[in-house]
Amino acid sequence: MVKRVTCSRVVVVSLLTFAIIGFGAESSRADAAKGKSVFEAKKCGGDCHITQGPATEKTFADQLKKKGPELWYAGNKLKKEWMEKWLQDPAVIRPLEYNSIEKKNPGNHPKLSKTEADEVAEYLMTLTSKDVESGVIQANKNIQGKQAFEKKQACQACHQIEKTGKVIGGLVAPSLVKAGERLQGDWIYAYLKKPKVFKPVKRMPVYEGYLSDVDMKNIAALIASF
Ligand code: HEC
Repeated sequence: MVKRVTCSRVVVVSLLTFAIIGFGAESSRADAAKGKSVFEAKKCGGDCHITQGPATEKTFADQLKKKGPELWYAGNKLKKEWMEKWLQDPAVIRPLEYNSIEKKNPGNHPKLSKTEADEVAEYLMTLTSKDVESGVIQANKNIQGKQAFEKKQACQACHQIEKTGKVIGGLVAPSLVKAGERLQGDWIYAYLKKPKVFKPVKRMPVYEGYLSDVDMKNIAALIASF
């Protein structure tokens, strides 16, 4: 009996909270809807970006059919301020073309106006995955993370990073230079922990069993500080 009372109270409180937050978000929701229209009008979906999760790729051929990275969890992965800037002035993130060890990425991503970029970023922030827990990782230049990243696993074999002012590292993966401005720490951790959720078919090694949970958290905090 007592349990039931508590339970219905929780429901009432949740509904109230939802209503308050819901009304507060009214104006940003309008922008997100406009952003979705821009996204559709510019044909950003289709062959380029998948906005519907969870991932359905089964084979490497499925992966290769996608021209750009999937965005169905963009709201967890990317930072809104970064998207707003990048969409107006897209710079190459992955030095080489996807799945290539020699072809340079042509860097021919379409550009959006400031208003379009802001609206599209607002829309992309609404695309999230239930597999990313928020508030777990705080950006932190920690030495344990650095050791796990550089020594235990040599992540820089494939990823560019900045080291004592110089850019070093491999070219086959997205650059992690200034990745803290682009990526959310909680997503980096979720990606290392449950890579199959985000990339069922992938080139990057799976680190479960090679890095401890603490290593993954430290690495995520480190990358978020780049
Ligand atoms: C053999 C090459 C390789 C190694 C080694 C590697 N990665 Fe990756 N990583 C990739 C590739 C390729 C991608 C792009 C996604 C894909 O296709 O798997 C990627 C994606 C990522 C991303 C997402 C970046 C983005 O912008 O989407 C992060 C974060 C990341 N790797 C971190 C790490 C960490 C941390 C390590 C070391 C523990 C590591 N990687 C080791 C190849 C590598």
